[in-house]
Amino acid sequence: MSRKKFIAGNWKMYKTVSEAVAFAKDAKARTAGVSNVQIAIGAPFTDLLSLVQELKGSNIEVAAQNCHWEKEGAFTGEISVGMLKEIGVQHVIIAHSERRQYFGETNATANKKVKAVLAGGLGVILCAGETLAEREGGKTFDVVKDHVLGSLDGLTVEDLKNVVLAYEPVWAIGTGKVASPAQAQEVHAFIRGVLKEKFGADAANAMRIQYGGSVKPDNVKELMGMADIDGALVGGAALKPDSFEALVKF
Ligand code: PGA
Repeated sequence: MSRKKFIAGNWKMYKTVSEAVAFAKDAKARTAGVSNVQIAIGAPFTDLLSLVQELKGSNIEVAAQNCHWEKEGAFTGEISVGMLKEIGVQHVIIAHSERRQYFGETNATANKKVKAVLAGGLGVILCAGETLAEREGGKTFDVVKDHVLGSLDGLTVEDLKNVVLAYEPVWAIGTGKVASPAQAQEVHAFIRGVLKEKFGADAANAMRIQYGGSVKPDNVKELMGMADIDGALVGGAALKPDSFEALVKF
């Protein structure tokens, strides 16, 4: 089963509109001609419209980092899938560990968001991953399985075609402490097994599973060489065009 690699940047709360547009102008020239890898940038809400406009006709897609599950309503401060769709956003990152850690994201809210994104016709990048305490307590597989199955509850095999998973061990995010390729591969293979049990072999084999957590130009190639690692979700190293280019051209 050949799965197209998918490298996505996650800018978190970095870059004003002018900074985002400057990045896009530079990055799209650098990645032009890359066709064997899918490329996206997850940006703050305020950057999204300008990014979509600047990246039109390029091979870089645009992702939001969160959304609300309702179509509209009295939800001060929230953004709906329809709002994202109208401006041309293609993906939404759901349940990033920082959303779980600081903003009360749970499997239940993630599940509602996943369903809303799919109903709106956009793609989901769904994150899962254990904390250091959970890893040291031998709970990695339980936590990851709980995140994946809880967030994907009620989905069909058809729905899964628009879902990408991202395994992001919390202890490796922004810490410079990357999971070894073997450590990451072990969890990726486990996730694929969980998907197989729940959704069948075809859906599991087709699912792309990104690795995230201190991916850098100097470790990306080795990670991408692992059998069940199908891309990367990258924070810090995706903030500069030259580094982003190196990631995409691993
Ligand atoms: P990092 O972040 O690459 O800076 O570790 C990854 C992420 O949070 O998606």
